[in-house]
Amino acid sequence: MNSKKRIGILTAGGDCPGINAVIRAVAKKAILELDAEIIGIEDGYEGLVNNKHRKLNYSDFSGILTLGGTILGTSKKASPYRYAIKTARGLEFKDMSKRALENIKEMDLDCLVCIGGDGTLGIAHKLFKDGVPVVGVPKTIDNDILGTDITFGFDTAVWIATEGIDRLHTTAQSHHRVMVIEVMGHRAGWIALHSGIAGGGDVILIPEIPYDIKTIARKVRERSKKGKRFSIVVVAEGAHPKGGKVTIQRMVKESSDPIRLGGIGFVLGSAIENATEIETRTVVMGHLQRGGSPTPFDRVLATQLGTKTVDMIEAKRFGRMAGVKRELSSRSR
Ligand code: F6P
Repeated sequence: MNSKKRIGILTAGGDCPGINAVIRAVAKKAILELDAEIIGIEDGYEGLVNNKHRKLNYSDFSGILTLGGTILGTSKKASPYRYAIKTARGLEFKDMSKRALENIKEMDLDCLVCIGGDGTLGIAHKLFKDGVPVVGVPKTIDNDILGTDITFGFDTAVWIATEGIDRLHTTAQSHHRVMVIEVMGHRAGWIALHSGIAGGGDVILIPEIPYDIKTIARKVRERSKKGKRFSIVVVAEGAHPKGGKVTIQRMVKESSDPIRLGGIGFVLGSAIENATEIETRTVVMGHLQRGGSPTPFDRVLATQLGTKTVDMIEAKRFGRMAGVKRELSSRSR
């Protein structure tokens, strides 16, 4: 019988810069301080249902601090409690949690670390209620998880979006155009607000405050009259007009949160051009905001959350997540 502590790690939901830094911190601390074995579960809850996992060694965690994405793979579609199966009749949903629980037992895990956003953490909580010793780590570029002041990935996304705004400034200025830049964030305006302020956006639109196209057009025209013949409009993908709806890009039926937002930038761009008669272009930052290497701030935050996770495992504080509650100081890349 194996007397070593066995810790399973999975990453589910959308990827974001810093996930590998968390995996590394959890694994290195757990191996060095608890002499634990690390089991990497592949593709999030998909791997839990279909028993896809591998034992990882200390060397597997070298060189991944700065690496974007997740070395374990992820899935946004699989929940053990509502697992999508393609049948001749179309898509059907089955409760596969019993199978997932059997797989956890077979893997002989002392703890399962679930790194993910609100959907992932909600599933982790259900697993905990079903008897699994779980610790969660909040992850998303959107910075919208209850119980933590900040999530890793957010700083990187803001940095990328800000760089986009900076670059759009010069072309907007040269062509005397309005440039609309659509950023991610789901139903939260954090990325738009922070990148908009950091990039000096002239108009910043967030889901929390529905917009009025007349006010936007007035602002753009006023700038034009004052000799500022360009404007930068930063819009969150979840922004919507007063009394109007969000713009949906696609529905992903298999997903527990099937709505994918996107396209408001183009809707808004046409509306601004019609209202002001100033040539307008739209740029969608999209998944660029989730790609590549994390900023130093996100690397540190991810490492802190990872090491805290191991403390929680040691103290058997299951059914909780590591988080941050503090004042934010200035950050740099
Ligand atoms: O939650 C992270 C996020 O990037 C959101 O900002 C965005 O709405 C969504 O995921 C995009 O999802 P997908 O990767 O499925 O296109």
